[in-house]
Amino acid sequence: MLTDSFGRIHDYLRISLTDRCNFRCLYCLPEPEHDDSTDSMFNIYSNQTTTVAEKMTADEIDRIAGIFIEQGVRKIRLTGGEPLIRKDARDIIERLGKYNVELAITSNGMYVDKFIDTFNKVGLKSVNISLDSLNAESFHRLTGRDEFKTVYKNIELLLKSGYHVKVNMVVMNGYNDDEITDFIEWTKDTPVHIRFIEFMPFPGNHWRPEKLMTYKDILEIIAQKYPNLEKLEDAKHDTAKKHRVKGHKGTFAVISTMSEPFCSGCNRLRLTADGKMRNCLFAGNEMDLLTPFRSGEDIVPLIHGNLAGKYAMLGGNVETQWELHHTESHERTMMGIGG
Ligand code: 5AD
Ligand code: SF4
Repeated sequence: MLTDSFGRIHDYLRISLTDRCNFRCLYCLPEPEHDDSTDSMFNIYSNQTTTVAEKMTADEIDRIAGIFIEQGVRKIRLTGGEPLIRKDARDIIERLGKYNVELAITSNGMYVDKFIDTFNKVGLKSVNISLDSLNAESFHRLTGRDEFKTVYKNIELLLKSGYHVKVNMVVMNGYNDDEITDFIEWTKDTPVHIRFIEFMPFPGNHWRPEKLMTYKDILEIIAQKYPNLEKLEDAKHDTAKKHRVKGHKGTFAVISTMSEPFCSGCNRLRLTADGKMRNCLFAGNEMDLLTPFRSGEDIVPLIHGNLAGKYAMLGGNVETQWELHHTESHERTMMGIGG
């Protein structure tokens, strides 16, 4: 079992397939204008965009995941960047599909229609799609891509195919806070699960305290229009506080990383696309597993060693949870870590 020094059992591994993305979400990788075709696209904010040689191959992901599973991992989520832009994404999903674990994915939704057969084949459990606006123009402004229709259609496709679909909406005051109730209205007749996410600071994403909408702020806005709210039960490791408007088919939740961190029940480990293990989203350090793995070393002790150093809360940044931004504590962007 993968247990840390606080007795937390870690059975959930998030694997980033790539640190690249075909979108440019404001809160993730806002600027400058990048050229998708070059290698230098993430230059200023993240000089650690990995090259193909640095990335874990499909076979390495398969075998390293296998080692984590032997150690007790029961759930794997594929993340990015955008996981589905990797040329061998299909192969990776199929390889991981053979393990007896709950397999899930977080995607921007752009290529879901091209992968739905693979999702069906491996019995993917749940799909999280990032969607920060229900308005095509504002979607374009927030993501840098004019693809609202594509993403929305793909969410409909997932719902039609019977998937448990969670929609991640990062709430930013002054940008999309006026759409909170539109998302709630969507849950009325659609079994979609909205997750409002508190805007987190990462290098280069222009985080400001005044852009943050907290769990409390978000709930107040919803309760004004929908007084008939019921709190749903949260699972032990849940990062989201779940609610429903009575009578609505879908649900909503708030992920309160900033205002009410949920570290005490944390069961998550992360693996970056270049094979580095991070024991926390906010961890200040990471453990290279890929290099020793490539040279034939046993990485099991390294995994346990890294986990033993996991902090109780927010990667040890407790005193400054409101001022986490731009510190040396997390020099990777969200894309580099994989959310
Ligand atoms: N704050 C909050 N959530 C973020 N995400 C990416 N960057 C941030 C941020 N700065 C979320 C997006 C996406 C997921 C991969 O991570 O909602 O769905
Ligand atoms: Fe891409 Fe997701 Fe970052 Fe948006 S939030 S730029 S979709 S990785």
